[in-house]
Amino acid sequence: MRTYLVTGGAGFIGSNYIHYMFRKYGDEIRIINVDVLTYAGNLENLREVEGRDNYTFIRANICDREAIERIFAENEIDRVVHFAAESHVDRSIVHPEVFVETNVLGTATMLNAARKAWEQPDGSYPEGKKFLHVSTDEVYGSLPDEEGAYFYETTPYQPHSPYSASKAGSDMLVRSYMDTYGFPANITNCSNNYGPYQFPEKMIPLMIHNALEGKKLPVYGDGRNVRDWLYVEDHAKAIDLVQEKGRLFETYNIGGHNEKRNIEIVKIIIATLQELLPADDPRRAHINEDLITFVEDRKGHDLRYAIAPDKIKAELGWEPETMFAEGIKKTIRWYFEHEEWLAHATSGAYQEYYEKMYAGR
Ligand code: NAD
Ligand code: TYD
Repeated sequence: MRTYLVTGGAGFIGSNYIHYMFRKYGDEIRIINVDVLTYAGNLENLREVEGRDNYTFIRANICDREAIERIFAENEIDRVVHFAAESHVDRSIVHPEVFVETNVLGTATMLNAARKAWEQPDGSYPEGKKFLHVSTDEVYGSLPDEEGAYFYETTPYQPHSPYSASKAGSDMLVRSYMDTYGFPANITNCSNNYGPYQFPEKMIPLMIHNALEGKKLPVYGDGRNVRDWLYVEDHAKAIDLVQEKGRLFETYNIGGHNEKRNIEIVKIIIATLQELLPADDPRRAHINEDLITFVEDRKGHDLRYAIAPDKIKAELGWEPETMFAEGIKKTIRWYFEHEEWLAHATSGAYQEYYEKMYAGR
């Protein structure tokens, strides 16, 4: 039975990936989820898989060399899927050093441990051992607001935020391991994800949560910045496909040509909430465009991200299956149906974060 070591599996994309993998492979695979449970890690995301015999959760920090090496020593790991990271740009502007530690040093620790476990005395690697580093399109920097300008796998790295700089650093480390040691890896650079289990510090769940609570919807700057949104399950499918059928050592961009300005997204969320809330729900009365408020812009705010997914489409036949009109409805319904999850995620430390981050805005 093939064993996956998933890092950051209690976060947004990692937990969606674990659900996807068990839906697809059932008892044919084993997953070990290694997560230190920062504010963004939530075991409630994994309740449905907790009882499985082929699922194990280990609380450990990816920077903890001993703990990570022990996991490799005690388990025959075939695949690593490395999600664990600090992932929020706004937090990286306040505490860049945490991002360097987790994203750069943590990735170095994972690479070292995998190499130590897998590399043979002659420098080769056994067939089937693979490391997938999950990264972002933000490493490529910002695009002009022009049709036809896209990020390709060959686009030079030009990160602007401490988050994207730390992810760029981690990507470079993975590249260096492939080039120096022939280390069997892939890198995927994906556009913005949305869907179930996303922590409400990110734009889409933050707007859904605020609207339901009748709070202002804080749009940074003039709201004309563009992001390329992908439903999280399509990302999970792409990651699996790259590990199954992709060429080793290659980078694949993942994105579905779904560019939207932030202000459009906020208006779509308001309209979708109006459409989906029952006629007698009292929250309907306060959910309208008057909630939108333009606030101070993010420092160094990238103008536009847009992925050219030509390579993954041509080589692996991947295309997004959930279009935005459907995906945003599924997402909003999920938040309706998981009010307890949302209440837990936004209690305690979240309030403090929100007050601080949005104080001057
Ligand atoms: P997230 O913040 O929701 O989850 C991160 C997870 O990593 C959490 O469970 C957290 O507890 C864990 N973690 C953090 N530091 C750790 C450490 N030192 N040791 C062990 N675990 C640790 O993030 P996400 O949105 O799910 O993103 C996952 C990955 O995908 C990240 O590498 C991110 O850069 C990348 N990515 C995200 C997006 C997006 O839109 N969210 C897009 C492209 C790529
Ligand atoms: P975010 O979800 O933080 O993702 P990223 O910065 O990694 O792209 O933000 C998406 C876009 O939404 C980005 O242009 C910043 C903007 N934004 C707001 O306008 N208001 C908010 O409260 C947040 C969190 C983001």
